[in-house]
Amino acid sequence: MDPHTEPSAVEVIRDPRDFQARLIRARHAGQRVAFVPTMGALHEGHLTLAREGRARVGPEGLVAISIFVNPTQFGPNEDLSKYPRELSRDLVLCASAGVDVVFAPDTAAMYPEGEQTRVTVSSLTAPLCGVFRPGHFEGVTTIVSKLFALSGPCVALFGRKDYQQWRVIERMTRDLLLPVEVVGVPTVREANGLALSSRNRYLSDDERARAAEIPRALGYAVREWESGARDAARIRDEVDTRLRAIATSVDYIEVRDADTLEHYRDESTRAVLAIAVRVGTTRLIDNVVLGEESAPV
Ligand code: PAJ
Repeated sequence: MDPHTEPSAVEVIRDPRDFQARLIRARHAGQRVAFVPTMGALHEGHLTLAREGRARVGPEGLVAISIFVNPTQFGPNEDLSKYPRELSRDLVLCASAGVDVVFAPDTAAMYPEGEQTRVTVSSLTAPLCGVFRPGHFEGVTTIVSKLFALSGPCVALFGRKDYQQWRVIERMTRDLLLPVEVVGVPTVREANGLALSSRNRYLSDDERARAAEIPRALGYAVREWESGARDAARIRDEVDTRLRAIATSVDYIEVRDADTLEHYRDESTRAVLAIAVRVGTTRLIDNVVLGEESAPV
């Protein structure tokens, strides 16, 4: 039976040591390994990362995905308990995307009793989401380090939708001298431009319509930039006005250096416009690298 067309053929591993042993065997057999860490509730964005992984390791390679809602990256008032968990649906999607191995551990296995180790990246985690979600990136880098240690991938795929997360993981991988190629995959969007997110399902119809202003506002900024405008503060202010009209609250709307995430200063730096707003109770993030990416809508 072809494991890439038969949904039930996807291999599910729950024990970290079994996952590690499975991937060691694969590498010893000469397979290249692509790895996609996720928290489940999979959508086309996640599946695009898996397909990109397949493209990079080829039909002979192994594509592994982890599904783990990582408690240490959620703040005390965040949505850990209500984060969607739907493993059987996720497994069908993984099989349809040609994933070979799904790693779905439980919390106790990933955080052994008495655990006291964290991995921290400093400056890159300070601004943007770092201000509003203290400890979030430390939770992310800690779990991704563990997942890399278990999977030993050649290539790991992250979405640019979570732009800061991608850059933080890239930095961590370089700093820890990990032999992993970190790839940032462009944001996958709905037809109206809204970035796909597991949290979009919390939106009511009205909120969804309001959220559609996010890609439109980013599109405005892209077009301004394309037409030669470089007044980042003015563009930011216009995006701010547009988003405050639809958002319940705004965490940040900022133009930053796309590499260091420091404040955008002048044309010698690449610029990323990054936003985080709440629509109803749902927190949505999005971004666009000005002058490089096309308008979402
Ligand atoms: P999660 O939110 O499930 O996302 C898993 C991966 O999918 C991340 O790299 C994210 O950037 C990517 N992704 C999500 N929506 C996307 C979209 N619309 N287009 C492209 N890629 C998209 O991010 C996490 O989980 C966690 O922090 C994790 C890295 C798994 C650590 O726990």
